[in-house]
Formats: sequence, structure tokens, C-alpha cells
Amino acid sequence: MSDVSTVPVYKDSQMPVERRVADLVSRMTLKEKIGQMVQCTGAEFGDEKAYEDALREGMVGSRIGCDSQWAGNEGSRGISVEELNLHQRIAVEESRLGIPVINGRDIIHGHRTVMPVPLAQAASFDPEEVRRSARLAASEASAEGIHWTFAPMMDICRNPKWGRVIEGFGEDPYLAEEMAVAMVKGFQGDDMSAPDSIVACAKHFAGYGYCEGGRDYDASEITSGTFHNVVLRPFKAAVMRGGVGTVMTSFQSNGGIPSSASGFLLRRMLRETWGFRGFVVSDWGAVGEIEFHGACQDAKDAVRAAVNAGVNMEMIRSLYPRYIEALINERRISEETIDELVSGILRIKFMCGLFEHPYTEADPSRIRSAETLAASRRQAAHCMVLAKNNGILPFSDSLKGKRVALIGPMVHERGPLGGSWNLGSPGHEFRTIGEAFAEEAEKRGVSAAITDSALWDEQLRFANRCDVVVLCVGEHSNSTGETHASARYRLPVGQDELVDAVRRTGRPFVVVCVSGRPFPIPGARDHADALLYAWHCGTETANALMDVLFGEQEPSGRLPITVPEHEGQIPIYYGRKMPGKVNDWENRNANLYDDGWPYYNGEDFLPMYPFGFGLGYTTFDVSGICVDKTEIPAWDTVTVRSRLINTGSRRGTAVVQCYLTDVRASVSRPMKELVGFRKVTLDPGCESIVEFELNEEAMGFYDADGNRLLESGEFRVGVGLDSTVRPSVPFFVR
Ligand code: GLC
Repeated sequence: MSDVSTVPVYKDSQMPVERRVADLVSRMTLKEKIGQMVQCTGAEFGDEKAYEDALREGMVGSRIGCDSQWAGNEGSRGISVEELNLHQRIAVEESRLGIPVINGRDIIHGHRTVMPVPLAQAASFDPEEVRRSARLAASEASAEGIHWTFAPMMDICRNPKWGRVIEGFGEDPYLAEEMAVAMVKGFQGDDMSAPDSIVACAKHFAGYGYCEGGRDYDASEITSGTFHNVVLRPFKAAVMRGGVGTVMTSFQSNGGIPSSASGFLLRRMLRETWGFRGFVVSDWGAVGEIEFHGACQDAKDAVRAAVNAGVNMEMIRSLYPRYIEALINERRISEETIDELVSGILRIKFMCGLFEHPYTEADPSRIRSAETLAASRRQAAHCMVLAKNNGILPFSDSLKGKRVALIGPMVHERGPLGGSWNLGSPGHEFRTIGEAFAEEAEKRGVSAAITDSALWDEQLRFANRCDVVVLCVGEHSNSTGETHASARYRLPVGQDELVDAVRRTGRPFVVVCVSGRPFPIPGARDHADALLYAWHCGTETANALMDVLFGEQEPSGRLPITVPEHEGQIPIYYGRKMPGKVNDWENRNANLYDDGWPYYNGEDFLPMYPFGFGLGYTTFDVSGICVDKTEIPAWDTVTVRSRLINTGSRRGTAVVQCYLTDVRASVSRPMKELVGFRKVTLDPGCESIVEFELNEEAMGFYDADGNRLLESGEFRVGVGLDSTVRPSVPFFVR
């Protein structure tokens, strides 16, 4: 035990965190407290010297981006560990209390090794692989002086026209819960203070994915039932199961209340209901934007609203240092509230070991290591979704000596493969699909025909002279991510025509969609021999694609979001509630297909591909679904059992999915809900018993006031390989 008389309690690592927090807050001036609530890029102070002066005065709680560029999609200059250490030394050794700065950055899907975009990672239906991927990202980022990431993003989205759909985990709350917890645990590890851990951030809290029309930043109008039973679920899981250290507020308003001013979100749900003890950071300038929403009188009033709602730290705009003292003097906020908010920030700084390890020892061995690159390549293949295959894939030795044309707009792209939140890896570090294909084809005695011409007539000329065509369509990463939304949900202009032109060559062809989200490609669905959604899978996209095309890896991804037949169907998702007039034979224009999709006046609303769908290189059968009890008391559990058989001729992986229907409740419940999934790999002819244990978590739901209910009555359960499962095995909760 250190000599307490010489070392202040807050500097004594042997002391309990809460005592250190209380001791430090008691020593701070109001100015120093407000300083901790400031997050900046450093550029706001004009120049580096002014920034260093601010550090000396304890006026900076956190630095964002850490490469002195605006945080966003273009990080042109890399991080300088020396510079970060130099600034940290000023904060720790030259300020009055020596409180370290926490360095934050968007490590959304990888850092120097770019992993698949989160929507693709959700397609893996493999939380353990997602956790490992986040762990590797944390190791790379912490090696370069980053302490905190603004991830995972867990905004449920059912409108893929919203460009940020790629940053989240898709349409389903259960899948999003599992992925959010996995990613938080990956970033924070078992010990948030470990040198290769970084603090995670659950964002954007909450409802951003419901921005109307998929128009980024637009208002959302989410009912309280949907808020509690869909939108909030991954955040609750991230806090209560993942132990996430921070939360970020969302830009949009819901029901007219901007999230950064929402006491319902930040106090009642986050802190009072879920027991959150970390800190809340606003999104970029979102405190000041409370005024833009017209939900307060002016910028000063915006600060009042955000502080009283519980926003601990303001990202950019520096309105907190401008107005908090005056607001205290006007008794519109209290210093007790400031103490509470500053305590949340300091608590995380203590828990992540910043006071003990404020400086970074650069460790290049953790950057783009062979292990990390291999993991990225493996994960990419496990995210890819095979939507159609008449047997042409995987390419076999029969292709030897044949000519294969590789054409399309994504053949020679590099940076776009990295997705829209790649800040750490410049485009030249990416291998193109063309380069990877040329090498793989040569290795396998296949004659690759790849033209450098961007002109599609020339590319089609190549296609006409070949035996097989691989057509790589898709979108630039800049068409996804923040500030991106579209009124259409199709491949970029002209590409559907290109698919049709390849069809007209009469050659067997494979369509590969290299994009942040899975577009409907009717020409591929109707005429191609195979359709593979390869996503923006980061650094190893091209290599992983070769592994999949030539069978080194099986594409084992399943759709985390419904693919509509056309954008007119959006919003379209499997977990919908029963519409009115179901099977009302008098009203012949409104009826439901068996699996719940409506049929109106000859225009059907069947999606192109349903949530959870995906093929592999073998086939599976699920049968023998049964429950161990047909009647249970509310506190009990039901075990759902099914038999999975690999009915194909190759070893392969299935994603077995369990769906539940609450047949009768006090409110209309979704027609079915995912309540469990398991990724299972079997040799041909082998079988496995797959079990799901269902408890209150699965059968219960929230009422409009957020009260948890488990009502008695009939439930039906189904197990299958995608969301077209019809839950039909009954059991009763008494
Ligand atoms: C952006 C994004 C948010 C990101 C933050 C910092 O505006 O909305 O997701 O973490 O700014 O870059």
C-alpha cells in the first residue's frame, strides 16, 4: 500500500475506483470539471501551442480522431503516437491535477486492418468471430495510442436506403443484441484496463435507424412499444450484458425530442433502469443541434437541456465551457449535476487504467499482423451470402483450361472495398479483385480474361470470347455511411443493364455484389448461375472472394436484413405484426401468403430474399422440431430440439434459426421473432441435435410504458434455415 500521506487518493491505484472518483472531484475547480466534459479535435484551438496551453489548464477531457483531421470518412494523415504521448505528457505532468486525456476514434470495423463492415459481420451470425475481430481491432488501435472507440453502432434499421444501415447489425433486435455484446466484449476485453483493450461506445442512442424515409438525420416517430421491444434492446444488452463503458447520443429527434435532450433515454432508461455507470458523449455537435431541432430557446438553453438530460461530454462545438458556469449561476443547472457527470467520465478513465498507463508504447508488431490479416480474410468469407447457385460454384477443376472473364465496375477498385468508416488504411493497401483473380486463376490453370478498360462494351467483348463470366457489380463505399441516403434501392445506375447484357452473351455467369448492403438484382436472381453478396469486407475482400469462388472457404453468411424485390416494398422486414383483414375472404384484395407476406390486388410484396437466408456449398435439412414441455409456469424454460442433417456431398455450415410466435397477447405481437441461432458445421451425411432454451427473455415483451410482461397463453415455435420458418409447435405458458 502506498504512503497515503504523500499520494492523493485519486492517484493511488490500490484505492477503489469510487473513492478515487470522489476524491478527485472534491479537488477540482468548476473550470477543471467543465474541462473534462470537452471533447475536441485539437484544431479548434487554432494551433498546436494553443491546444497545449488548453491541456495545461485541464480544459480537454478527450481528443477525437487523434490525427488532427475531422473525424469522418477521410483520415488523410495517420496517427502519431509520439504526438499523442507528447500532448498526454503535458496533460498529466504539467496540469494542476494531471488528469489524462482519453483519445477517441471511430474504430468501427477494424483499424489498420479493415474488417468487414458491421452489417456484413452480422451476416456471419457468428458472435464469437465478431468478438475476435473487435479484439484484433482494439489491439491495433491501442498500439497507436487510441483508448476509446465510437463503436459498436447498433441502430436497428429496416430501411436499407439509409446509408448508415451498413454500420449496424440489420433489422433484427435479437441478432443485434448478440452482435453488440460480442463487439463490446471484443473491444473492452475481460479487463478494460489491459494495454490492448479500448473502451467501447454503444451508439447512436437511440432510434437513429428509424429516421423517416431513410433520410439521414431526419426525425423518427417510433412508438413506445417499438422503442422498448426493438430499438432499445441492443443498447440494454450492451449495457447490462456487455458492460459497455460509454454511450453516444443520436442526431435525430424522436417524437420531437432530440436524443441529447432526452431524460427518458439518458436518465430513465440508461441509468435508472439499466444501471449504466459510464458516461454519455453527444454525437458530433449534437448538443448545439438541439437548437437546430427547435427544441430549445438558444445554444445556452441547449446546454441546459443536455446537461440536465445527462450528456456527460460534448463532442465538438465547445458550448459546455461557454455556458455551463453561467447556467449554474442562473440556477438552471446545478453543480451537483456537473459533479455527477464528471464522475462518470473519471470513472471510465480510472477503469481503463489511464492514470496508471497514460502513455503508449508503440508496438508495430500488433499492426496488420499475419494473425489479424488471416482472421480478417476468414471472417470475410464467413460473412459472404450466397443467394443463388445452380452448382457453378465453387469453381472446380473442370474450369482448368477454360477462359473466365472477370468484368464489371468493382474489378479494379481498392479503397471502396474498405467500407465507409475506414480511417486507418489508405486505398493502396487494398488488393483488387482483379489482382487476386489473376493470381488465383494462374495457380489453377484457368485462363483469366481481365481488361483494364472501364468501357462496358469492351468488357462485354471479353465476356463474349470466354467460357464463363464473373461479373463484379456493387457500390462505392462513399455511397454508404453518414450523410448518405437514397430514394432508390437498386444497384448504381446502369449496372442492372450490365447484368442483362451479360445474360445476352449466353455464357454461364456469376454475379458478385461488392457493396455495403445487399441490393435486389432481379437479372441475377432470374438468369445468373450464381449470385454472391460479398459486401465491403475490408482489407481481405479480394482474397476472401477467391477463397469462396474456388471453394477454399464456404460462404456461410446469412442475410441480416431483408432484400426487397424493389424499393417500393420498403420498409420490409420479417418481424412485422399481423395486418388487419387477415384471411378476410370477403375482402379478396387483402390476404397473406403462408409465410406472412401480404398480397394486394395482384401486386405481391414478397421480398426477393428473406432475413436469415443464405446458401452454402452443401445442403441441410432441419426436422423433428419438438419441445420438452407443452406447458410451463412463467418462471420456467422450454427446450426446443431439432435435428440438423447435412444432406449434401460436402462438409458445410448451416445457421439454424429458432423463431417464436406469441399467438395471443394483450397487444398485437410480431408474427414471429428470432429467439436463437446456432452456426453448425457438419460433414456430409452427418447430423446434429440443435437445442434452444427459451425463457422469459424470449417469451416476454415490454408494454408501452416499458414494463416487462410475460403473459400466459399459447406460443408456437419453429426451427429452420431462414425467417420463412412457420412457427407451428405449440406450448403454453400458464
Ligand atoms: C459522426 C457520427 C458518429 C461518429 C462521430 C465521430 O457524426 O454520427 O457515428 O462516431 O461523428 O466521428
